[in-house]
Amino acid sequence: MSKAKFITFEGVDGAGKSTGLAWFAEALRQRGIPLIVTREPGGTPLGEQLREMLLNQPMHIETEAMLMFAARREHVEKVIRPALQQGIWVISDRFSDASFAYQGGGRGVPLAKLEQLERWVHEDLQPDLTLLFDIPIEEARKRLASNLSLDRFEQEKGEFFERVRQVYLARATQSPQRIVVIHAEKTISEVNQSLSDILSTL
Ligand code: TYD
Repeated sequence: MSKAKFITFEGVDGAGKSTGLAWFAEALRQRGIPLIVTREPGGTPLGEQLREMLLNQPMHIETEAMLMFAARREHVEKVIRPALQQGIWVISDRFSDASFAYQGGGRGVPLAKLEQLERWVHEDLQPDLTLLFDIPIEEARKRLASNLSLDRFEQEKGEFFERVRQVYLARATQSPQRIVVIHAEKTISEVNQSLSDILSTL
């Protein structure tokens, strides 16, 4: 059997990434692939405590960036690497691309600082594949509107999400082998068809 893969899902809030992730994970399971589904920030008991703070508590932008990577360090060492070593695929709802997009693009933390944290936390580990759910911000915000309790990020203004989106797209252009853009404004069945096409290449 081929090596276990590390696959991440990314996109602005409201892009439909979690729905796509659930479909994709189920399709992999049906093929008999052993896998775990996890998320960031979070994925470990400590990481989930950090998530609670990150999503609710106002803080300095660099504290936010460091806590994202602190949670990630725990996640990489306790969950992601051990699973991959045992031949178990890892599907993560967000990873470091989100820190570049949200803390870098959205908040304005310098890229060089985020690159330092990335080297520190997972120098020798990158996702094998990243599915970037891309959608016009206006459309994403319409989808979020039905959500009753918005977290600290979801409450941000449209311009914030425009910056987040642009960083995601720039990273997709820089790493076309790893990052595949999914046109998420399409219908669920069209999105699932794209996911199915990707699955057949794995
Ligand atoms: P999200 O996947 O949107 O959770 P949910 O679908 O349950 O709302 O993730 C939570 C938020 O965390 C999201 O708004 C993006 C933010 N985030 C960052 O700002 N930086 C990061 O590095 C990560 C992993 C997430």
